[in-house]
Amino acid sequence: MFDRLKKKWNVNGLQLTMILCTFAIGGSVTGYTARKLLGLFSVEQRWLWILIYILLLTIVWPIAVYLISFPFGQSPFFTRYLKKIGKRFFGSHKSSTAKTAAPLEINQTSKRENAPVFKKAETAEKAENHRLIAIFASGTGSNTQKIIDFFRNSKTVKIALIVCNKPGAGVLNIAKNENIPSLLIEKDRFFDGDAYINELNRHNISFIVLAGFLWKIPPNLIMAFKGKIINIHPALLPAYGGKGMYGTKVHEAVIAAKEKESGISIHYVDEIYDHGATIFQATCPVLETDTADSLAERIHQLEHQYYPKVIDELMNRK
Ligand code: GAR
Repeated sequence: MFDRLKKKWNVNGLQLTMILCTFAIGGSVTGYTARKLLGLFSVEQRWLWILIYILLLTIVWPIAVYLISFPFGQSPFFTRYLKKIGKRFFGSHKSSTAKTAAPLEINQTSKRENAPVFKKAETAEKAENHRLIAIFASGTGSNTQKIIDFFRNSKTVKIALIVCNKPGAGVLNIAKNENIPSLLIEKDRFFDGDAYINELNRHNISFIVLAGFLWKIPPNLIMAFKGKIINIHPALLPAYGGKGMYGTKVHEAVIAAKEKESGISIHYVDEIYDHGATIFQATCPVLETDTADSLAERIHQLEHQYYPKVIDELMNRK
């Protein structure tokens, strides 16, 4: 329940505790104040007493909660929260459309910012109904591009964030061209800090797709997205997997071993490299004339053909 609230309100654990304390104390202060105020008047009829009491609660509650949010450092949250409630009760028809609007992505271009208002509302509404995926990638990003293309007009899935650990990686250009927010991550925070879980929550990410991301996923991130991180590997796991087995190195090893067949593996991510439960595999022949590059090309074709479809299937299942 708390995890859902954290995601819904885009806050971390400490903020959530402070917010709940504010609510609790605000509620008690409201009840107490309303009774005291009522005591000032002698209202005989029970029904009138209840009516005035409810009226006082409605007026006192937002004031009490808002004032208490200051010492708890949560005034920005409650400003937004009270505005939202205000809009719900007193908002015009126009603002009730905007109410369903999720916040716009952080690096949307000025082109989008200048779009007509109804366009913005449409885009935001769309985002609210979508399951939001983050793609972690640090290479050229051909898989990332295929996944983006596949879900471009999806009514249920949206690629909301590209996470990359390599400045200058091709995938960052894809993010820019596609107008998708990107996050360049640093080793220290990823492995010894919060693993960017707060950032992922801020973007309401509910599923993570690794597409050529070579860092191991730290345990806290795996825990936070249990069963919701998948990876693609360019070989038939469990063969040719593990630390140091990525990209060209995999294909060189397959050719050196004179394998007749290779392929792709899509699997859940756990704390061991290329180890989690297999979701899908597809095979292709390894030709005697193959080089690592020609085999890589064949494998890439398989990846492009199947990875988006497998993601789609998982999104429909969960
Ligand atoms: C893909 O072939 C993927 O299987 C591989 O990196 C490539 C990324 O290509 N991943 C691994 O080797 C993970 N161990 P892309 O940047 O063109 O999508």
